[in-house]
Order: sequence, then C-alpha cells, then structure tokens
Amino acid sequence: MKNDMQFTGKNGEFQIRHMVEKTQLNFPVANEEGIKSSVTQTFGGDCKLDQNHFLLEPVSIENLHNNRSTRNVWCTINRKEHVSLTGVSAQAEYAHFLGKEEEVTFDAGFMWQETKRELKEQKIEAAVRIFAPLGVPAELMQVRVTNKSDMDMCVRVTSAIPIYGRSADNLRDHRHVTSLLHRIRTTGRGVICKPVLSFDERGHQKNHMIYFEMGSQGDGTKPESFFPTVESFIGETGTFLAPDALKNKEKGCPAGCTVDGKEAMGAMAFPEITLAAGAHVDYILLGGMTEDPKLAEQAAEMFCTTKQADAAFEQAKNYWNGLVNISFETGNPKEDSYLKWICFQPVLRRIYGCSFLPYHDYGRGGRGWRDLWQDCLSLLILDPKEVRSMILNSFAGVRFDGTNATIIGDKPGEFVADRNNITRVWMDHAYWPFVTTKLYLNQTGDLDILDQKVAYFKDPQAKRGTAGDAEWTPAYGMRQKDVNGNIYEGTVLEHLLLQNLCAFYEAGEHGMMRLRGADWNDALDMAAEKGESVAFTCAYIGNLRDLADTLEKYEAASGKKEITLAKEMEILIRQDRTSYDSAEKRNVVLNNYVSQCVHNISGEQISVDISTLVQNLRERADWYTGLIRTQEWVTDENGNGWFNGYYDNHGRPVEGKRDNHVRMMLTGQVFSVMGNVADDAQTAAITKSADLYLYKKEVGGYRLNTDFKEEKFDLGRMFGFAYGEKENGAVFSHMTVMYANALYQRGFVKEGYRALYTLLEQAMNTPVSLMYPGIPEYFDADGKGKYPYLTGAASWYMMTMVTQIFGFRGEWGDLVLEPKILLRQFDESGNYSAQFPFRGQTYAVVYQNPQKKEYGDYQITEVWLDGQRYAGETNTGICIPFAVLEGKENHTLRIVLG
Ligand code: G1P
Repeated sequence: MKNDMQFTGKNGEFQIRHMVEKTQLNFPVANEEGIKSSVTQTFGGDCKLDQNHFLLEPVSIENLHNNRSTRNVWCTINRKEHVSLTGVSAQAEYAHFLGKEEEVTFDAGFMWQETKRELKEQKIEAAVRIFAPLGVPAELMQVRVTNKSDMDMCVRVTSAIPIYGRSADNLRDHRHVTSLLHRIRTTGRGVICKPVLSFDERGHQKNHMIYFEMGSQGDGTKPESFFPTVESFIGETGTFLAPDALKNKEKGCPAGCTVDGKEAMGAMAFPEITLAAGAHVDYILLGGMTEDPKLAEQAAEMFCTTKQADAAFEQAKNYWNGLVNISFETGNPKEDSYLKWICFQPVLRRIYGCSFLPYHDYGRGGRGWRDLWQDCLSLLILDPKEVRSMILNSFAGVRFDGTNATIIGDKPGEFVADRNNITRVWMDHAYWPFVTTKLYLNQTGDLDILDQKVAYFKDPQAKRGTAGDAEWTPAYGMRQKDVNGNIYEGTVLEHLLLQNLCAFYEAGEHGMMRLRGADWNDALDMAAEKGESVAFTCAYIGNLRDLADTLEKYEAASGKKEITLAKEMEILIRQDRTSYDSAEKRNVVLNNYVSQCVHNISGEQISVDISTLVQNLRERADWYTGLIRTQEWVTDENGNGWFNGYYDNHGRPVEGKRDNHVRMMLTGQVFSVMGNVADDAQTAAITKSADLYLYKKEVGGYRLNTDFKEEKFDLGRMFGFAYGEKENGAVFSHMTVMYANALYQRGFVKEGYRALYTLLEQAMNTPVSLMYPGIPEYFDADGKGKYPYLTGAASWYMMTMVTQIFGFRGEWGDLVLEPKILLRQFDESGNYSAQFPFRGQTYAVVYQNPQKKEYGDYQITEVWLDGQRYAGETNTGICIPFAVLEGKENHTLRIVLG
C-alpha cells in the first residue's frame, strides 16, 4: 500500500487513497444465506456456497495476481474505446507496467468494499461496490459511471462475469467434461446455468443448483443482449483482458436463447446511452446460486433499481455492524478501529470456517472441533443467548471414551462418522469444551446447564481410536446406546469429567499425556507412538483445578451433596494417588475403562459425593503439578529457565539447550502459566527466557519456537516448513494471544501487554504487514500478515481485552471489575473507556485515573453506577451482584482509580 489507510467511520470503515493494488490483498464478502466471496481490489477472487458449489472459479492466494477470468465490467466510450471499470484490462496492465496507474480510492467496511477509479484520459469516474444482500444467496455489484467531461458522452456498459458453476474439485478433475454438463439460457435480465449433473467426491449426481448472473440498469432497464458462453465473449482470438466481443462490436444473443455444453459466461450488454456532462448512470449486477427454480429471476427483480440496491446495502451494513455490539474508546482511534475488526473476525470464522478464503485452500469447509468451541468464546461476550444451545449441541459430539467426533456437520449438533475411518485423536480436543463452558458459567451464572442431559457420539471407533467396534453398523446410529438399546444420556458435568479424566489417564512413558495425532499445534503430527505433550498436560491440570472450583460452586448453589455419573466412570474417579502415580498404573485404569465401553454401555448410574470428588480432583492437579515442576524445567547455561513442552517419537525431551543452540517452544510456557503449573517465580523466569529467545519485535513479537535447525520428523511436519512460517517459528497470533491472556490472568500485566500490543502494532504497520485491518493467523519471517481474518486468535484477543485488560467479566453471573490497564494505555485525560454487553444489558464503562498512577500502584477508589456512588475504596477489584444491575437495559459505570 502506497499510503497508509485511514479510518472513516465508527464501525471500522476505512479508506485507502492512491491505492496501488497488492496482489494478495483480498476482502471477505458474505451473507447468512451461505454466500462466501473473496474480493480483490480489482474484483478478482471467487464466490461459493461450499466446496461443491462455486459460482466463480476457485482461487488460491498464489493465483490471485493472475485472476482475470472474474468479475469485470466494461464500458465502451463513444463507440471506440473499451475500458474496464474494475481495472482489469490489457490497457490497465500495460499502464501499470509503465508506472501510469489509474487514480483509485478504496473504501471498505464489514462485508462490503467499493473502489472509485478516475479514468483521466477518458474523463470518466467508475465507482464499483460489492456486498451480499441479506436474504438472498447472491453477491451484488453496484456500478456507477460518471461523465467527468464537459461534453455529452456515448456510453455502453457490458458486464463480464464468467460462471464456473460446479465443484472446486473439477478444477483439475474433469474441468472440460463438466462444462459439457452445462445447460445455459438467457432470461430477460441475465444468464442462468444449470448443469444437468454434478461430478464431485459424492459421485455423479443429478444437479439441482442453478448458477446465475443477472443485471439491470439503475432505472430498471433490462440488458439488451447477452454473451452466455466464454467462447462467444472472448472469441477465438481474444482474452478476458481484451475480449473479441467488444472489439468486433458483436451484438450477442437476445433473451430466451439456450446453449448446451459450454463454459458459461454472465456477460450482458446494456443499451447504449448518452451521458450528459457531469451526469451518471448506474448498473446492478447480481450473481448467485440457488436450488429454487424461480429465485434467480425473482431476485433480479428485487434488486433492479438503484433505490432497491441502495436500500439493500444499508440493510446489510446495519446487520453486520450490529453484530459487533462492543466498542472501545481508548484514546487511540486507530487501535479502536482495529479492535472493531478483531471483534468482527469471529463472525467471519463462523461463516467461512477455516476454508474459503484464498490462503485457506486446503480446507474443504466446516470447522474443526477446537475451533468450534473457541469461536464460542467471543459469542459469549457479544451475545451469550445463542451459546447455551450451541454448547449443549456440541457436547453430543463427545464419545464415551472421552475422544470426540472430528467431522462436524453443517447443522448444530450434527457430527458425522469418518467414512474412511481415519482415526486421528488430537490430544487437546477434550480440553476446550470446559474452557468455553467455564466462561459461559461465569458470564451467565447459568449453573443449571451442568445438569442438562446430552447424548454421546457413537461410531465404529473405540478405545480412544486404538480399536474398532465390530458390532457397530450404520443402523445402530450415531448415538451411544445402553445394553437395553436405549440412547444413553449423561449430564454436561458428566461429559466434562469424562473428557478430562480420560485425558488424565492417557500417559506416555515420562508420565506426561500422550501427544497422539497432535495437540493444538496440528503440525506436531509425527510422534503418535512415543510423543508426549507437557504443554497440554499443563492445560488439563488447569481444567482439573477449575472443575473442582466449579463443582464446589455447583454444590453451594444447588444445595446438592451428590451428583450422578455413569457407573463405568467409577474407576476413573474413585482412585487414590497410589493407583495413578505411575504412567503404567494410569494406562491400566484407562484400559479398564475404555474396555467397558467398546459397544454398548450398562446405562446404570452411581451417586458420587461432590466434596470427595472436589478433593480428589485437586489432589490429582497438585500431584501432577509437582511432577512437572521437578521433571520438566529446563535451563540454559546462564540459568534462564522454562518448561520442556514435548517428547518426540524417540521419547526424548524436545526443549533445552542442545549442540549449542536453544530449543524453546511457546506452547508449553503458555499452558504452564495458564494452568497454574508454573509458580510465580517460574512465570517470571519464563517471561525472561521468552524475551530472550522468542521475541522479535519486527515480526510481531513472540514466535512459536526457536529455529531447531533440524528436519525433526520424529515430531512433526512443522519442521518441514521454512523457519519463520506457520507453525515453525512464526509469530502465530493464536498462541501469542493465549500467552498474553495467561500472563494477564497471573498478574503479569506489563508482560501480557507486550505480547498483545506488539502483535497489534505489527498488524497496524501496514507497509510491512501488507494487510487490511484485523489480525492474521500469523506473521511470517518478514513480518507480513498471512491467513488474515480466519483465526481463533480473534476470539482470544477480544476476550483478553474485555475480561482481562478492562477486567469487565462475569463471575458466576455477577459482574466483576478488575482493571489491568497500564498507565500508557489511558488517554491524555487519564480515561480508558468502552461499551460492552453483559447479560443482555449494555454498559458504558469508563476508568478514570486522574493521578496518572501505574498499574500495581492504583486501586479502585470510587465506583459510580448510573450516576450514583456505588462503592468507595475497594482494593484492585470489585464484584457487583447481578441483583443490583437487573431490570435495566443500559448502565453507566465510572470507576475512579487512585
Ligand atoms: C489454526 C487452526 C487451529 C490450530 C492452529 C495451529 O489456527 O485453525 O485449529 O490449532 O492452526 O495448528 P487458527 O489461527 O486458525 O486458530
């Protein structure tokens, strides 16, 4: 980007003036009807519903620069000159080559972008906007051509959008043959392509999907003629950058034509008009996919005037803006706008999953298990109403052996058996559900959810992926049954205990939990036999402690002394230390447990005393903590220390100093700090070592690991990636943000801020990060932001800002205020403000620090609620019972620090 971007509105709207296209920049445009588009600055990119339904040809990041067979709009001026209004033409490329760029201004907000292009020579201005209207599975382009000369101009506009109309698989698999399936017709307002069959991984099936490109002039006038095939538009000698149809002044075909078996083209020529000096003319182009035979033509009528399209644009904008009901006023408007985008990113991930944007060309759709749970974290802050059912539905993906389904269906609670029966167990999977449930309990106070009954997932996998259930058939169904053939249901609490206790018992030879197929780091996938993850052992230890606290709270709130659990679980809970203090003993327990639940389970339940269970969980956590503190602490020759996070497939510890260089990974540090395995002195030592070995400001801060200088394929494919990329030593936002979160939780505020802020600073440094606002999945070795938009880091970032820095969070449903704001974060007048939702109410919160004191020196001296003094000096935090806050929609909170 030549010039830095400017924010122009309160909802993250930004503008880049004098923009030069960066070929890899692309922008998400989507709607709730399933449209998922990516759009470059010249309207390249693609548009799809899912892996098998692409309206526009699929693109990857590496062919975006070559992406010419995409959305284009041509304008023929005075019958002799053809210019592209989106900037995709042979002349535009040549002008760029000569350094004579067109003047372009780029504007964007949530799910829309617009370019204004000054064609100085031709004396016209072209404004092109794209968004996806609500309620229709389509994307909509609005094009405005303005005559900037002082003479009448003869203008003829021709849209040119190729319709790919099939599965992404057909890019290489039968690209030509699948075009033979196309049945194309022109209607009054556009081109419709309905292939007769679809060829994809599901086999050859009758196709019902209709792909369409429709268009109107802004006053409702229909197109005059059509070029419904690529062949008829570009001709035998042309290209998409110089199509023959324009050159030869071909007339095209009228409405009502049909063509079979060709590559389809949504090209339509509008009537030639005379545009007076200073006047403008509008066009509306609507491209989409539907199985409803009438919808394409109906939708074209719904958006055939500028007025209709403008109204749809306002509606869409309001919808997306309204989803981010959180805003920051921290005294730095640029940062506040970035935070808006970070808060919007979880919405993007809900829609796009981990696929469907050009970097994510490995994904066939859907979301992974851990992503499913983590994306809920942000929803819990934005709109917890929806989350209860999401949590309940998702627990139905847990198997009775504590593992879970990994293929997640489109509908909530839909989990699918792996047809290829690939058994891969990610050992971190059972960790995340409690992280989300814990936040849910705190933000809502709804402890009742713990008693809700949910089924378990069942498929042919058994014994945590190490055996099969030979008796299972598809007729059995996907729900665990008991010996009487009834679907077994257990409480949410039972699911949580089962998941975390099974993990506890799955020990490797050093006593740490086995790595299995991988943990959070998907690329640690080559140590399934002997690998161990100390990192996630620490994470689970944190869960065991928090589960104990939750049970205690549950006991107090419900007045119950006992809970009911499946009988089979008895051997997991009623064990004292002597039965689990070696890896062998733990494996015996686990084996006994999983052997009981290969096919049906008994269906019987037992009562368990809560306080005994609480004590039992705490004992386990403390015992494991002691083991890790003594066994896994490594140091360099200067005494700098940190935790070894892994064992490789030869059973060797991975971290420490070897052959004169340091091997350190961030993940083990994050979870030892977060899970309270590291004591305060160890946490301090970890931050020092991380600063020494992992921190590099120019690339965004804390890297995932040091350079091992080894293709360490006894641990994972990550060591095949170049150092500094993705999971091999990039600044991987998700882990860096979790590091920050862990440090804040432990009161290491300066250190937490450093991790979080360096990341944000890097994203905001657009000449280097080369990205639109937001945080990327990672920053590469050059500091460039890669895989923007779709990252679990966004949820964690938002959660850390709200619940840690602002310290605005629920505690079993009551409101806690415990700021961890550094002096440098307050604005000039000593204020730090934001607006947050909490339990269906809106809170305008301002922290005031009139004496300009640093974190650690200040305390809360006054709390003003809705203009009334609520409390005086209260130390560093205060809890306001929800009973005090109930019954009002809006609150103001002014908290004075001193
Ligand atoms: C991605 C995956 C996530 C995985 C991580 C590390 O991270 O989505 O499941 O744990 O890579 O391998 P993201 O930044 O998208 O959260």
